[in-house]
Order: sequence, then structure tokens, then C-alpha cells
Amino acid sequence: MLTVKIKKIIKKKYKKKIVCLTAYSKNIAEILDKYCDIILVGDSLGTVLYDYNTTRKVSLNTIIEHSKSVRKGIKNSLMVVDMPYKTYRNKKEALKNAKHVISQTRCDAIKLEGGKKIIEIVKHLIKNKIQVMGHIGLLPQSQKGKFTFKGKTEIEKNKIFNDAKILASSGVFGIVMECIEKSLAKKITSSIKIPTIGIGSSAYCDGQILVTDDLLGLNNKNYRFVKKYANLKISIDKAINRFKEDVIKKLFPKNKNTY
Ligand code: KIV
Repeated sequence: MLTVKIKKIIKKKYKKKIVCLTAYSKNIAEILDKYCDIILVGDSLGTVLYDYNTTRKVSLNTIIEHSKSVRKGIKNSLMVVDMPYKTYRNKKEALKNAKHVISQTRCDAIKLEGGKKIIEIVKHLIKNKIQVMGHIGLLPQSQKGKFTFKGKTEIEKNKIFNDAKILASSGVFGIVMECIEKSLAKKITSSIKIPTIGIGSSAYCDGQILVTDDLLGLNNKNYRFVKKYANLKISIDKAINRFKEDVIKKLFPKNKNTY
């Protein structure tokens, strides 16, 4: 059974674009909550925050602790939490860990990477009343070698299309499509009744998601699919430099900052 919040998001499919972003902490979640339909505690936090070379190193505990913080900043958006690598290798493990994540974080849904390969696990979770979001195309938890867009060959296109169809019929409420070739993203979006949320997958998706740190310019990364809406790295640098100057010149603290 889909929740009211999820039904509202699904209804947007043919009417209005769905806005999604990642958050790893309360302060950011609180800002995003005013604007986003979905806030994802993505396992990208492993590479973005912890500087791991892969999201595979993110543990269940780490994602839970960040999700607890994010939960405190969300009042309206749908909160989705990524299930980390090797936490859903079979039905039993997936259900136990998904229930743990939900009870600890009070998130609305969880997200798993994969299509046909994990479909029995997805169905098992849904049968047990867990709201699941799919994720197809580029799958960082299982990608070997260079990250590149998906859907280059007809074989690859067919596989991804079938993944989308099988996930949609399993009862997931939406599918993240990561770095999927434009015509394939268009075909999938018009072939399924649930929303597609794109990242690097063209404007033909029902909604868009980005890693918030990327769009805020909190790092030096430049991805083709990211538009930088701010350059906070530079703003923070300037602010910290001013603090340093004030401390050295004894301009801070002033009387008003003192007890
Ligand atoms: O981990 C993450 O942040 C994600 C998004 C890139 C969709 O899965």
C-alpha cells in the first residue's frame, strides 16, 4: 500500500516535474525541505563527505547516523534512504536491514540499486510493506572501472529498459535513472506509470536529482550533468580568511562577543 505522500508524488508524473536532492545532515535538509518533493540520504555520502574511493565502503551504521540527523530537518518532503552495498544480498538480509533503517531513522522509503537481478528482493520488501525506490543505469555500488553513461549499445539499452519495466511492475514507487542515454530515458519515462527521477539522464525524466554538494560548488568536481548554482567553496574560503585576519589583527572577539 502506497502512502498518501508517495501517491501525491506519483500523481505529479504527468503534471509537474518532481524535485529531489541529497542531504546528509539536518542543516542542509532543513533548507531543502522547503523546495524538494524527495530528499535522499544517498550513499554518495561515502565519496562526497568521507572521500572514500567508492560508495561500497559506506556502512549501515554510517547511513543511519546521517539519516537520523537529516530526519530532524524534514517536515514535508519524502525522505528516502539508500541501502548500502552488501546490505541486501538476499531477501532475509534485505528485510532485516531495511526494517532496521526505517525504525532507526523514521524514513519514508528506501532505495536499492539494480533491476532484474534484485527483483525478488524488491518484491519481498514491498510484500512486507516497505516503500521501495529503484535505481537503474549507472550503479555505483556495482560499477567496475570508469563511470560512464549507460545505453551505448542496443543490448545495454534493452537490458536497462527491461530493468525499468520489471521494477515498475514490482511495485516500486519511482525509479532513479543515473547517466542514461537521452532517447532511452525518454522511452522508459513514457513506458511506465511511475515517476522516473534523472541524474545525468536528460530532461525527459519526470523529475531530477543532484548531489547537493555538487550544485552548491562545495567541491572542485565538474561533472557534465551538474549545473553549479553557487560556489560555496569560494564563499566559505573568503569567510574563513576574514575570520583569520580578524583574529590576527585582534578585531575578533569584540566586547559584544564577550561575557
Ligand atoms: O547516492 C546518491 O546520492 C544517489 C543519487 C546520485 C541518486 O544515489
